[in-house]
Amino acid sequence: MSTNTQTYDIKIDSLGAQGDGVGTLPDGRRAFVSGTLAGETVRARVQDEKPDGVFCAVVEVLEPAANRMAAPCPHYDRCGGCAIQHMDDASYSNFKMDAVRRALDQHGLEPETMDGPFISAPGTRRRATMAMYRSGQRVLIGFNERRSRSIVDLQTCLVLKPRLVALVPALRALGLTLLESGHGMDITMMSGDGDAVDLVFRPWKKTQNKHAQKNRQARNRKEPKLKQKQIDGPSLAILEALYDFANEHDIARIRWQDGFDKPDDLTPVADRAPFTVTLGGHMVRPSPGAFLQATEDGQAALTEVVLSGVGDARNIVDLYAGCGTFALALLRDKRHVTAVEGWRPAIDALSRAASELGGVLDTAHRDLVDDPLNAKELKDFDAVVIDPPRVGAKDQMREIANANVRTVVSVSCNPATFARDGAILKDAGFKLTHLRVVDQFLWSTHVELVGVFVNQNYVTPPRLNRG
Ligand SMILES: C[S@@+](CC[C@H](N)C(=O)[O-])C[C@H]1O[C@@H](n2cnc3c(N)ncnc32)[C@H](O)[C@@H]1O
Repeated sequence: MSTNTQTYDIKIDSLGAQGDGVGTLPDGRRAFVSGTLAGETVRARVQDEKPDGVFCAVVEVLEPAANRMAAPCPHYDRCGGCAIQHMDDASYSNFKMDAVRRALDQHGLEPETMDGPFISAPGTRRRATMAMYRSGQRVLIGFNERRSRSIVDLQTCLVLKPRLVALVPALRALGLTLLESGHGMDITMMSGDGDAVDLVFRPWKKTQNKHAQKNRQARNRKEPKLKQKQIDGPSLAILEALYDFANEHDIARIRWQDGFDKPDDLTPVADRAPFTVTLGGHMVRPSPGAFLQATEDGQAALTEVVLSGVGDARNIVDLYAGCGTFALALLRDKRHVTAVEGWRPAIDALSRAASELGGVLDTAHRDLVDDPLNAKELKDFDAVVIDPPRVGAKDQMREIANANVRTVVSVSCNPATFARDGAILKDAGFKLTHLRVVDQFLWSTHVELVGVFVNQNYVTPPRLNRG
């Protein structure tokens, strides 16, 4: 049975974690309707049926909620980049705070104080990955449509830095040279000091093109049959086009990456100017496509809690240090900081910056999942800063819990793993003294947080007692 013309009038009871309104269909199944709010009645069309519920698109809001707001972006009805632009400011803040509170409650964590959300301003996000796809003479560039791999052709974006948005029309034109019809690629953009731009172009594999094709056919568009030839490395024509693009649009650095499975296999295309980022007052040259906190003001909000959290600690280890966002900010008052990171290009960038700092910053390349720092290694540090990827750092946290560490500042982009790992500290006698919620991904359902855990069982080692 075809379901995509079926409509229902649905009463929305609550908002789900992905920002969809949740209601119940007449047959008792759960319905998820994007762009709706609790308390509304909407007419919605079925888009997709999954075992966990039926996903629907709004056809009409029959009874709007009082906290409904007109979404500011013209792409909002389709673009998957944003999920919650249609609510007033208070509801938006509550959505982000509630997401964190729910995760904390699940693990019995209660911060003594909590602040936020600190919300990054529109037009400040400094990194993004867009998709680009060519069909005949048409090139689409932008983010994926909600629950789909189709691309919403981006005319504007209220979230990204204007410098990055301004490149989109020129990238679209460049797509005619870079792509054959039926092919696509991802473009990772990063903006650094003085609006310097770093671009990494990553052609899709054959299978990804097939997905795009299948999706477009499902959407019933009449397109010519697609050619499924794999792009193998940049041709001379592509290299020249990218180089000219760099000159014309003042791009600091361009790299070409062959394949998602080879993140370090980058072909240098253009190095017109140093691509630098200032972290903690120190200049770093991050490798192409490196992790950076998404916004500068969000980074400052996280760093503020990291600094106040470690207090007067003298010897600090920064785990999952990246290019040194926190390690470099911690370098003050003659402290000693050790930065540990698993991605070679990031720690190399930080080591280069550290070499100019006279021995106050040590760096180590180490996989913290396979080989977490053990309690014996941790005993030399009086504070730990830890900022793992979304999966968290369960094993590393167990080692920290067993060590005699006074303070742990835990930074996270995932409330669920933050709370799970935080509970390991709580069970070992740490108290969550402060928590800040930071929203660097404006109008999305993502949320970041930083918590300060203080060890109630800390024993001051004799060597720190000497004077
Ligand atoms: C959320 S980022 C934080 C980076 C840094 N703290 C910052 O704020 O810029 C997580 C970092 O963990 C690193 N990472 C991921 N898996 C790792 C592993 N198994 N061992 C060590 N580092 C890892 C990533 O390369 C990335 O730099």
